[in-house]
Amino acid sequence: MRLDKYLSLSGERSRSEAGKLIRSGAVRVDGQVALRPETQVTEASQVLLAGQPIGDSSKQYYMLHKPAGVLTAARDSRARTVMDLVPENLRKRKVLPVGRLDKDTTGLLLMTNDGELAHFLLSPNRHVWKQYRATVTGLLTEADVQAFADGLQLSDFIAKPARLTILSAGQEESVGLVEVREGKFHQVKRMFAATGHEVTALHRATFGPLNLPQELPEGQYRALTVAEVEALRQSAAVRIREESPHRGEMNDG
Ligand code: URA
Repeated sequence: MRLDKYLSLSGERSRSEAGKLIRSGAVRVDGQVALRPETQVTEASQVLLAGQPIGDSSKQYYMLHKPAGVLTAARDSRARTVMDLVPENLRKRKVLPVGRLDKDTTGLLLMTNDGELAHFLLSPNRHVWKQYRATVTGLLTEADVQAFADGLQLSDFIAKPARLTILSAGQEESVGLVEVREGKFHQVKRMFAATGHEVTALHRATFGPLNLPQELPEGQYRALTVAEVEALRQSAAVRIREESPHRGEMNDG
């Protein structure tokens, strides 16, 4: 049987989705990456998608380019959620978002049914770095960069040191690249608010080792490659002890 037919019959996806996955390099047959949908497989073949066996119990890993206006939630009685942007079979397999982005935030959202990996990625001890592009009101200055690096005092906690790079600075509006390793509610917006800036647009470009590919349009998703899943596992496994680029050893608490 053709590989694309095998993948679609396994209940995972349509034939054309299966073809896309195969061409993206996410599928291995008997240890080799299979890039051709017409590759022949038999019942004896070992077929892996993103390193995991195909089947009901398989672990699945996706990235979604979240558009603005949808909630990061498993379901909501009124509003559209990210689950409305992925096929029914992913919902059946309990593929869920890892962490959350605000309704008006766009960008990379990891989705998986690997609860253990999700737990580790979100654990405060793992410190997976995430990069956001923020458009803010007012003029960003070196004082803001230093305040982010020092760890901002918010109303209920002190944010861990974060990296801010100013991409453009104007009196009315500025754009900054922020790297944080926490994921508290409205974290980035609250950090900017603490330095007197309101975030008017927020976009997540990276999540740990994952980068949102330019060719993935808003509202679209794709399966992670084997290499991406492996990189995520490694980032979750490591208890990171890193040096701040701004002021030496960070206090990890
Ligand atoms: N920080 C925020 O304030 N909002 C997000 O959606 C993500 C990080």
